[in-house]
Amino acid sequence: MKSFKLPKNFLLGTATAALQIEGGDRNNSWFRWAEQGHIQDGSHCITACDHWNRMEEDMALMQALNCRTYRLGLEWSRIEPEAGKFNSAAIAHYRDEISRLLATGIRPLVTLHHFSNPLWLEDRGAWLNPKAGDWFERYVAYTAEQLGDLVSDWITINEPNVYLTFGYIAGIWPPGKQNRMIDYFKGARNMILAHIRAYRTLHAVRERMGRSDTQVGVAYHLRIFEPKRGRWREKRSAALHERLFQEIFIHGMGEGILLPPAGIGAPLGRGRYQDFFGINYYSRDMVSARLNPLTLFGSLSVKEGAAVNDLGWEIYPEGLFRLCKKYYRRYRIPIYITENGTCDARDAFRTRYIYDHLAQVNRAIETGIDIQRYYHWTLMDNFEWAEGLSARFGLIEVDFATQQRTIRSSGQFYGEICKEGGVTDEMLQRYFSG
Ligand code: FCB
Repeated sequence: MKSFKLPKNFLLGTATAALQIEGGDRNNSWFRWAEQGHIQDGSHCITACDHWNRMEEDMALMQALNCRTYRLGLEWSRIEPEAGKFNSAAIAHYRDEISRLLATGIRPLVTLHHFSNPLWLEDRGAWLNPKAGDWFERYVAYTAEQLGDLVSDWITINEPNVYLTFGYIAGIWPPGKQNRMIDYFKGARNMILAHIRAYRTLHAVRERMGRSDTQVGVAYHLRIFEPKRGRWREKRSAALHERLFQEIFIHGMGEGILLPPAGIGAPLGRGRYQDFFGINYYSRDMVSARLNPLTLFGSLSVKEGAAVNDLGWEIYPEGLFRLCKKYYRRYRIPIYITENGTCDARDAFRTRYIYDHLAQVNRAIETGIDIQRYYHWTLMDNFEWAEGLSARFGLIEVDFATQQRTIRSSGQFYGEICKEGGVTDEMLQRYFSG
């Protein structure tokens, strides 16, 4: 292990999503899903980290970790509780939160959609409804007008591929549909086009405000798909996974090009619809040749003997380097690592995980790849979707009975990295020897 220093203007911080931390909102698809008893550990999102009432405490923790940026989500169902009716109190709350962040020198990156839908949208077929793009644009325009003086950096949609896979193929997220490949592609098309419209709207609204520093992107969930034994048919299968799970979204949202089966041509015109390339990176999958077109992901497995986290996800730091290299070569725009982190309740390997992944980021930067930010997933333990409250991804441990927050050892380590802008020899000594 070697010490390293990231570039001077490199920004480090943490990422969260509104539904996973805020608590208190009953007007969204995940509240209903939890009410219906679908959360694997029997927990619920109704309180989560109670962040809605504890934002000051949580911001103080971000400061304690020396974070210079924070990726936060807005809950659409709070801002627009009924179709076309906006809640000014919710916007005021977010304005307050963002103003406080700015006052403490933490730069916000705001996500507009992160898995959770307002119930009125869910009941109209969610993102399968051809009008979803109109509704999203209306919400984005309102939000940009309300917050655009404070926020320059935006993520329109988080991980559309994961949202559609779990909601329409695996069936373990709302709306709980299984093996609906046609819906997966229909949703993909609608989300791609909605992103492009949101991209244009965010730029246009802020331009009218006289702001020219707008940066809009997507947080793509990207994985490495690897042929299990290196056979030709496995390679073909891995390439197909990559295309259906990743490339249709990247070409669609980033360039306006619809790839079959999500569509054809460029209905909104070809262009560049991202100012940065956002990567959420967690893991790698080994792919066997058996491809079941109905389930799509039935042929994936974890590499034999590999180190895994609490959820069985392989820990594969080099994958982050490989993805940065591939997409920087293709697009030549700044890369933000919009999420990277691990599930480790005992905090047994998170420190090493952070070191290894940031070392790969540093390696990529040294080879000329323009990576500008890294957001660790996540600030504190929270509501991890279908897995519920028991999956622990936090730099900070949360006792959900008392809402007590405790910085983990890995959190201390990350806090020192944020302060130093890298890892020093002395830190390596302290955290890794013995
Ligand atoms: C990502 C999600 C995020 C969190 C992490 C563990 O896929 O964007 O909300 O659940 O995984």
